[in-house]
Amino acid sequence: MKKKKKKVKIKWKNIIILLVFIFSIVFLSIKIPKLIINIFKDTPKQEEKKKQEMKKEEKKEEPVEDTKDQRLKELDNINERIDYFNNSYIDRYITYKNNNPNKEIERVIIEVNMNLDKEVYQDIIPAKNLNNEKVLVNKYYYLDENYVPENLEKINQNYALSGMSMVNVAKEAFESLAKSAKKEGLSIIAMSTYRSYNYQVNLYNRYVKQDGKEEADTYSGRPGHSEHQTGLAVDVYNGKEDYTNFEKTKEFNWMQEHAHEFGFILRFPKDKENETKYQYESWHYRYVGIDAAKYIHDKNISFEEYYATIIKDW
Ligand code: DAL
Ligand code: ZN
Repeated sequence: MKKKKKKVKIKWKNIIILLVFIFSIVFLSIKIPKLIINIFKDTPKQEEKKKQEMKKEEKKEEPVEDTKDQRLKELDNINERIDYFNNSYIDRYITYKNNNPNKEIERVIIEVNMNLDKEVYQDIIPAKNLNNEKVLVNKYYYLDENYVPENLEKINQNYALSGMSMVNVAKEAFESLAKSAKKEGLSIIAMSTYRSYNYQVNLYNRYVKQDGKEEADTYSGRPGHSEHQTGLAVDVYNGKEDYTNFEKTKEFNWMQEHAHEFGFILRFPKDKENETKYQYESWHYRYVGIDAAKYIHDKNISFEEYYATIIKDW
């Protein structure tokens, strides 16, 4: 009997040991993976930093519309007040304003519309309104080398050197102007009118040879950039004085008073060099039509400004 009791005691001990062993295995198999994950997990501080960085990234990716509205606010929402605001120039307006903080915002818009934020002869644009008196040709807008205006006609020999031709409407207007001046005893003679692209190539090259490129650019259009190629421009003199002295003649004074009545403007005025990009030329007139000429004359603006605020054909 005694022997039997001892045997049962030994069995319980074994069972307890086994149970402890199993419990330990289960406990460790749950805890160890968690411990391993925690080793590689970020501390709370690191998590906070990550969250902040994510927020910053989200800010960077703001929708385009929001930033456009913000940019318009920067421009004082001027797009709602003026009709020559060009939506596609917003960035250029802001940059130009930043570079010229003392300029009125209205002036900023006009000057960017005139491309004054750009270097001349860079990013040149094909001229619009071909065969129309509203065409703008300058150091930003050019005519193709094959462009020849329609309806060129010779000017009456009483008012021009031989072989001078202009586009029909301009020619008619010029003859009326010269006839009107003649009635007052004044002589206004066309001495250079339509010039082909190739003619301008030779002329410009001659000037470059004579004065150097920098100087030539102040008074001569590069080929494709002279509005003489439009057939709407005319250089005049009084038949006696050299054309460079035209400013000192009675004919010039008459032109100042009456040219616009016939649809002509003084194309390169004294105080507008920064807009036209050419030096003052008292002898060079451009046909733009009577309404435009009156407007430009009365407001004392350049054709560039008229184009930038009224024609707006960008
Ligand atoms: N003299 C003017 C600027 C021209 O060459 O067109
Ligand atoms: Zn000229």
